[in-house]
Amino acid sequence: MTDHADAQLAAQYEAYPYPARDPREESKRLIIGSPSHLREIDYWVFGATRPTSQPLRALIAGGGTGDGTIMLATHMARAGRTGRVTYLDRSAGAMKIARARAEVRGLTNIDWVQGSLLDLPELGLGPFDYIDCCGVLHHLPEPSEGLAALVSVLAPGGGMGLMVYAPHGRTGVYMVQEALALLAPADQPPAARLDVARRVMRHLPESNWLRFNRNFADHITGGDAGLYDLLLNPRDRAFTVTAFADLLGGAGMAVSAFMEPMRYDPATWLPEPKLRARAGTLDATGQAALAEALTANMSVHIAYCRRAAEPVAMADPLADGAVPVMREVPGAELAKSILPDGSLPFLFDGLRAVLRLPIESTAILHAIDGERSVGDLCALFTGRGMAEAKFHRAWAETFAALQAVNRVLLAPPRA
Ligand SMILES: C[S@@+](CC[C@H](N)C(=O)[O-])C[C@H]1O[C@@H](n2cnc3c(N)ncnc32)[C@H](O)[C@@H]1O
Repeated sequence: MTDHADAQLAAQYEAYPYPARDPREESKRLIIGSPSHLREIDYWVFGATRPTSQPLRALIAGGGTGDGTIMLATHMARAGRTGRVTYLDRSAGAMKIARARAEVRGLTNIDWVQGSLLDLPELGLGPFDYIDCCGVLHHLPEPSEGLAALVSVLAPGGGMGLMVYAPHGRTGVYMVQEALALLAPADQPPAARLDVARRVMRHLPESNWLRFNRNFADHITGGDAGLYDLLLNPRDRAFTVTAFADLLGGAGMAVSAFMEPMRYDPATWLPEPKLRARAGTLDATGQAALAEALTANMSVHIAYCRRAAEPVAMADPLADGAVPVMREVPGAELAKSILPDGSLPFLFDGLRAVLRLPIESTAILHAIDGERSVGDLCALFTGRGMAEAKFHRAWAETFAALQAVNRVLLAPPRA
């Protein structure tokens, strides 16, 4: 199903491919993020149990100017991983930019398709082991139809990385959208609407909630494409955790993990034991919904999902053969942020949380290199005089804490 707003959406992403990217920048930096970081897919979608020799068939649905596609294809190429990344988007303008970025990087593991994800059941693409749909479902006329189209090409045992908008952290956005809809209706040419938006933003009344909102900066630093996407979008809706879970449930899917898990754990935000205990009686969705309502600053939900009937079986992080891997920041670097009392302050869009780490964490982090197994680490530390039981306790606590902030994960088996 498409409608008038959807035609306007298509025109928007032709006029202002999103996000604004200059292919020349590819020679200087790789943009990384969630979802679709290869280490996250390995761990959060496949539980670090899917061998690296198994080719990964990935789809990036609504790939825009290529952030997810370029990151995943680069990670796969660097790691010598087989498989292919299929980019799909309706916007010819966005695809042109994404392709140019891939060319600068010399990536040859991407297939390019211009089309609607709603047509996936008939496109003859797939099946896919992994599907990324980041910032797209909430723009569709019927998000459940989009999700069903994605599920139709998801291989058995596969999973998805999804991002949808969340309401509380977007406070102010919809009020400004409402004002702009009156001053610059969606049937006006995109450039004229953008001009009105810029002028309104210059004099936005001091009381407007958007002025207090520090959870994103697209309208400030995202250029024309960012401003248009945030404030002039012909259609976007935000999903609470509960609404997101309902959307997924309707398609037979369920969340495996929200990014970052600690943020969605109400215990993080409830220091009082009695309240924590009460929160602990809620089901997984209820707990995440409570964290969302308490923190009130989530502007998106990023989640890895699988079919509800195929929950992920996670590798045991305490097994001798498990191989810890830093997601991105090297262990020695992360260890520098640990304070003398073993605490590690962490910011979630400006909201501070404190991780408690055992004193041995610093040394353990220095030793994690993506090659050493837990058994190797144990041998290393017992060789330095640490009791085995002490190592295991310290490792269990370190992993539990740093996995919850998506910093230390497990690597998949090399076979
Ligand atoms: C906000 S952008 C997100 C781009 C990218 N996923 C990212 O996170 O950087 C939304 C993208 O979805 C695309 N899109 C919207 N509806 C679509 C549809 N039905 N089929 C395919 N692409 C669609 C738009 O063209 C646009 O490039």
